[in-house]
Amino acid sequence: MIQKPKGTYDVYSEKGKTISYIEELLKGIMEKYNYEYIRTPIFEASELFHRGVGETTDIVTKETYDFIDRGNRNMTLRPEGTAGVVRSFIENKMYGEILPRKVWYYGPMFRYERPQSGRFREFYQFGVEVFGSDNPLLDAEVISIPVNLYRMLGLKGIKVNINSLGDNESRNNYREALIKYFEPHINNLCEDCQERFKKNPLRILDCKIDGESDIIKNAPTTLDYLNDSSKEHFEKVKNYLDAMDIPYTVNPNVVRGLDYYTHTVFEVEADIKDFGSQNVLCGGGRYNGLVEMIGGPKCSGVGFALGLERLLNAIEAEKIVLPINDGIDIYLAPMSENEVSYTIKLLNTLRLNGFIVEMDTNNRKLSNNFKQADRLNAEYIVIIGENEIKNKELTIKNNHTKEETKVKENDLVDFFDEHECTGGCCHED
Ligand code: HAM
Repeated sequence: MIQKPKGTYDVYSEKGKTISYIEELLKGIMEKYNYEYIRTPIFEASELFHRGVGETTDIVTKETYDFIDRGNRNMTLRPEGTAGVVRSFIENKMYGEILPRKVWYYGPMFRYERPQSGRFREFYQFGVEVFGSDNPLLDAEVISIPVNLYRMLGLKGIKVNINSLGDNESRNNYREALIKYFEPHINNLCEDCQERFKKNPLRILDCKIDGESDIIKNAPTTLDYLNDSSKEHFEKVKNYLDAMDIPYTVNPNVVRGLDYYTHTVFEVEADIKDFGSQNVLCGGGRYNGLVEMIGGPKCSGVGFALGLERLLNAIEAEKIVLPINDGIDIYLAPMSENEVSYTIKLLNTLRLNGFIVEMDTNNRKLSNNFKQADRLNAEYIVIIGENEIKNKELTIKNNHTKEETKVKENDLVDFFDEHECTGGCCHED
């Protein structure tokens, strides 16, 4: 038996319903925020991620799925969404249109990581990117998206951590301070960190091996090196979060595992007992230099992405019951082969009118049709026999009250409409 690749998973049954529910919720939220949908390829030229995500990041050095295609090109399955969206923004000259441009995406990402709960090799990210505005208002707006999603889901155990890396000048000053600080300790750090020290000392701070050591814990923090304008930007972000009643903690340890960030960075972690180590539900921040780095004009950006799997873990850990419609409106059962064509016509008409309808496709006996209607949690059952077709009048049985009503064929849609049976909404009130 061939099995699924390590670090991947199948979706079906309840999980499928939960995921569809969350996808719809996210789409609805994006509509209210006025973000537009964007879709970019799942594989891109490897160079895009080397330049975009960063040559020295763990993602690029250890985790990408690289392959050479049949035309001898170096390709990579996208490990995240931002680099591809930025590429598309530049290639399609969106910078020449109305700004800010606000987009959202959703889809599979690939990282060759050691699988564990909440960490997969193929995982789904929902993310947003906003281009063309330096306004800290947008940093706050982006942070509010996952926070509002968690609020709408009823998720309580969340903690918003924010930090600022500042602009280029602040980052460079900080980089120098880090080099000075780490120099005397370099031989006590892991091999990877010794390499990072030479290329990008900031990366030492999120080392998975040395991360907990005193050397790293006592390192200078970004906040000490912010210049005045960077400080002002960060203050405004905090004020706007306060204005939206979004609680947060300023946490200088949040430096993020990707190279492109400037100014605000943030992560939302699950603050739930026994949640496990993969507790970062989402992360993001501002990246004012990335568009230029990938070959576009000077154009700032800010965004975030959340991992669907960790969100599902959080929903499960807090035992949240989502209002998922778990039934159908109408179950149609033809008495014999003779009534099948009439029934399928009716099935189609009712579906076109917005009802969730199913018909017997297994030639069940009457008693088994009632059982099947129960299994499907049908609101109404309609049994269709010779007389019903002849008289153009159907008997509608309410599957819960068992009450029966005779309704003329032409009045059927009105009947179900009046009984608030509109596409599975009947169970809601
Ligand atoms: P990231 O922090 O690398 O940021 O990933 C964002 C989220 O994706 C994480 O918080 C986590 O929930 C989820 N995630 C990451 N790796 C895995 C994995 N192996 N298995 C399951 N879930 C995972 C980014 O990707 C940036 N592109 C976010 C961003 C957008 N920044 C600005 N715009």
